[in-house]
Amino acid sequence: SEPLTLGVAGLGTVGMGLIQLLEAHAERLEKTLGRPIRVTGVSARSRGKARDALIGDAQWFDDPVALAQDPSNAVFVELIGGEEGPAKDAVEAALKAGKHVVTANKALLARHGTALARLAEAHGVALNFEAAVAGAIPVIKTLRETLVANGVRRVYGILNGTCNYILSEMTDEKRDFSEALREAQEKGYAEADPSFDIGGFDAAHKLALLTCLAFGTTVACDEIHVEGIETITRADIEAAAELGYCIKLLGVAVQSADGIEARVTPVLVNEESPLAEVSGVTNCVGIDADFVGNLLLVGPGAGGKPTASAVASDIVDIARGIVMPPFIRPTDRLAPIAPMNLTSH
Ligand code: HSE
Repeated sequence: SEPLTLGVAGLGTVGMGLIQLLEAHAERLEKTLGRPIRVTGVSARSRGKARDALIGDAQWFDDPVALAQDPSNAVFVELIGGEEGPAKDAVEAALKAGKHVVTANKALLARHGTALARLAEAHGVALNFEAAVAGAIPVIKTLRETLVANGVRRVYGILNGTCNYILSEMTDEKRDFSEALREAQEKGYAEADPSFDIGGFDAAHKLALLTCLAFGTTVACDEIHVEGIETITRADIEAAAELGYCIKLLGVAVQSADGIEARVTPVLVNEESPLAEVSGVTNCVGIDADFVGNLLLVGPGAGGKPTASAVASDIVDIARGIVMPPFIRPTDRLAPIAPMNLTSH
C-alpha cells in the first residue's frame, strides 16, 4: 500500500541517525504498519557526497520552507534546531499546509510551543516532540498519555547529557572541564553552541516542556531560574565527595501553594540517591504523581541513535493515525513561578 512520505529537514547527528534507522528497520516498520515509510525529500545547510549516498532517491531542497510546503511529503520532520529562523519558518509552513510535524527542537518549542500547538490543533495535525526531551527516554508519551489521569506534584531530573557527561568525567576520571566538554562535542552530544548546554539553557528548554505537560501551564522558559555548570571546579566536586555528595545539574518543577516553582541549578546529590548513579550522557526524569507515586525513567539522553529512535516513534504514531493535542490544553495564564532556594536533593 501507499508509503507514508517524509520530508526531513536537517541532516546533522540526529537527521543522519534517522535516515540510518529508517533503512536499518525498514522491513520491521513496514510489517508493523502495513505500509513502508519513505523519505521523499530532504534539506540541509550543505550537500555532500556522504549525504547524497545516504539519502538515495530523495529530492534535495535548499530551502527547508519549500520542503515543508511540498506536497510530495505528508509528514515534515524538523531536525534543524534553533528557536528562530529556518526551523521556525519551516515548522509553521508545514502546519499551515496541514502537515503533521515531528521535531526534536526543544529550543523552538520552549519559546513558541504554545503558539505552534494552537496552529497544529487548528489544522487537526500532529505536533510530536518525543525527541525534544531526554533523547530516548519516553517522557513526553509518559506525561501526555500514560499519566494523563494523574495529578503531577513534581517533575525533575538530569536533562542535559553534555553536562552530566562533563560532571561525571570530572568526578570519575579527574578530567578537566574543557577536555570533557570537547569530548562531549566530538561524540555528538553537545548543542551546536555548547553554551546552551553548560549554561543550563538546554535543560531549561526541556524543563519548560515538561512543566507545561505536567501542570498544564503555557510553555514559559523565561520564567525558569537557570544556573549552569561553568563555574563548577574539580575542587568543588572533591569537597562535595568528602561530604558524601556528588554534583549534578538538575531541573526541578514542583507544585507549591504559591504556584509552580521551576529551576535548573547544580545541586548536591546524596551519593545514596538513585540520581547519583546516573552517569555519563545518561538522563533521568523523575515524575511524582498522585496515583502512581514516584516514577523514575533512565536512559540515553543525547546522541544520534537514541534521539533518532524517539523521532521514529513519533513518526510511527502518525502512521498509525494517532493525533493528539501537543500539550494538555495549556492555560492562557501562567501559574506564578516562585524562586526556589534548594541546595541539595
Ligand atoms: N545537547 C543536548 C544534551 C542534546 O547534551 O543533552 C540532547 O537534547
